[in-house]
Amino acid sequence: MPQILVVYYSLNGNTRQVAEAIAAAHDAALELIQDTVNRDTGLGRPRSAVEGLLGLRSSITPPKHDPAEYDLVVVGTPVWAARLSSPVRAYLSQQRAALKRVAFFCTQGGIGGKWALQSMAKISGQRPVARLIISARHLNTPVAGEKVAQFVSEIGMD
Ligand SMILES: Cc1cc2nc3c(=O)[nH]c(=O)nc-3n(C[C@H](O)[C@H](O)[C@H](O)COP(=O)(O)O)c2cc1C
Repeated sequence: MPQILVVYYSLNGNTRQVAEAIAAAHDAALELIQDTVNRDTGLGRPRSAVEGLLGLRSSITPPKHDPAEYDLVVVGTPVWAARLSSPVRAYLSQQRAALKRVAFFCTQGGIGGKWALQSMAKISGQRPVARLIISARHLNTPVAGEKVAQFVSEIGMD
């Protein structure tokens, strides 16, 4: 059985929910990307949007799991300003040499996921084996359930 690591960042819990479902389906290791920025202040959201828009990398703490030890690393991000979040941008930039195979997912309000996933492929230098975009309004509905199940099935194939 391939060893799978699911790595994600989540500000409000949506991406966490999807990451946990994917990890549970494969009994995969799970890692939350943590950064050193307090985004709970009044300026936290606008700052995050600007970081997404400008393609900035935030300062993240060292990961607990070494991605080089996994056959497949699944990376998930919220969409910020139609781009990937700055903590996930930092993670992919730092770990790109350690990634053997990747799959990407994102959660979004409604638009931008496609571009976020395209950027993730570019930054990691990897073509993902599977992609998943979940809109927040579909969380906890059959729509999300089916999309996650499809993704889980795709990443389970050798
Ligand atoms: C700073 C910021 C910028 C966002 N920009 C977008 C966007 O451009 N397009 C979109 O569809 N949703 C956008 N959203 C909504 C989030 O992508 C969406 O709610 C996502 O599921 C949040 O994931 P999380 O709960 O894991 O943080 C934005 C949210 C935040 C906080």
